[in-house]
Amino acid sequence: MNTINNILQLGSKILKNHSIKTHQIDTELLLSKTLKESREYILTNDNKTLNFSETKKFLKFLNRRKNNEPIAYIMNEKYFWKKKFFVDNNVLIPRPDSETVVEKVLSYYKHKKKISILDIGTGSGCLIISILGERKYFKGTAIDISKKAINIAKYNAKMHQLSNRIKFYKSSVDNFFKGKYDLIISNPPYICSSKLKYLDKDIYNFEPIQALEGGKNGLKFFEKIIKKSSKLLKKSGRLILEIGFDQKSKVLEIINKENFFVNNVYKDYGKNDRCIICTKL
Ligand SMILES: C[S@@+](CC[C@H](N)C(=O)[O-])C[C@H]1O[C@@H](n2cnc3c(N)ncnc32)[C@H](O)[C@@H]1O
Repeated sequence: MNTINNILQLGSKILKNHSIKTHQIDTELLLSKTLKESREYILTNDNKTLNFSETKKFLKFLNRRKNNEPIAYIMNEKYFWKKKFFVDNNVLIPRPDSETVVEKVLSYYKHKKKISILDIGTGSGCLIISILGERKYFKGTAIDISKKAINIAKYNAKMHQLSNRIKFYKSSVDNFFKGKYDLIISNPPYICSSKLKYLDKDIYNFEPIQALEGGKNGLKFFEKIIKKSSKLLKKSGRLILEIGFDQKSKVLEIINKENFFVNNVYKDYGKNDRCIICTKL
């Protein structure tokens, strides 16, 4: 019989056999999505039986996970900072390490009531939406080269009642010249082209290449964004960048060629260099 209990055991076993480390919790999540019930419900109603169409739906989800599709894409959701974001394979899945950017913005602008922020490469919108969710009077502009990403970021802004404070533009950083900002934030694509193929299968096969690839040396976007920021920032405006764990000195070199003062470099939860803060002179 297709009881929740049996289905959980079967699903977990199949995922385990496909080397999915999080087989147990993933199975529970997929079943909760199938039945549109909470995980708590799943765990406390293990005698309930699934009908044919529920079983079919569950097996479809399971098959996707078995083939290494990230659970966030199958669930169409990812929690970041304090909010839930809609995600699909048109946007990078928000990473806990990127919360360092949010944390630093909030602490650097603790006493500022009103600032305008530009988010370059907004993806799901997780950075700008999390920041504006914490500060009632901040305003945001968010750009991304991907139209599909912009649509998802707009949807997330609407879900969190922030549409009236964020303007979205489908634009490459190269062609964006609008406005002057107190703060620019960016988590750009920063993986070297030659290293892409060594990423986990979940990432390489499913996340948008446009969100990952930073050119031959991984620094292409830092060069563009730092140059662009020196034009779009107000005097004494700040630039806050997410960087790869091994990119600190290379990115600082680029910053030092422009007219910026480096305030600090911060580490993420895993103690890797992750976030550079600098001020336009
Ligand atoms: C690493 S993802 C970051 C997404 C999101 N900000 C986050 O932190 O999860 C980089 C984003 O930059 C966008 N992007 C790539 N090239 C771009 C360009 N030339 N101009 C603007 N955005 C670009 C990608 O589409 C992607 O959404």
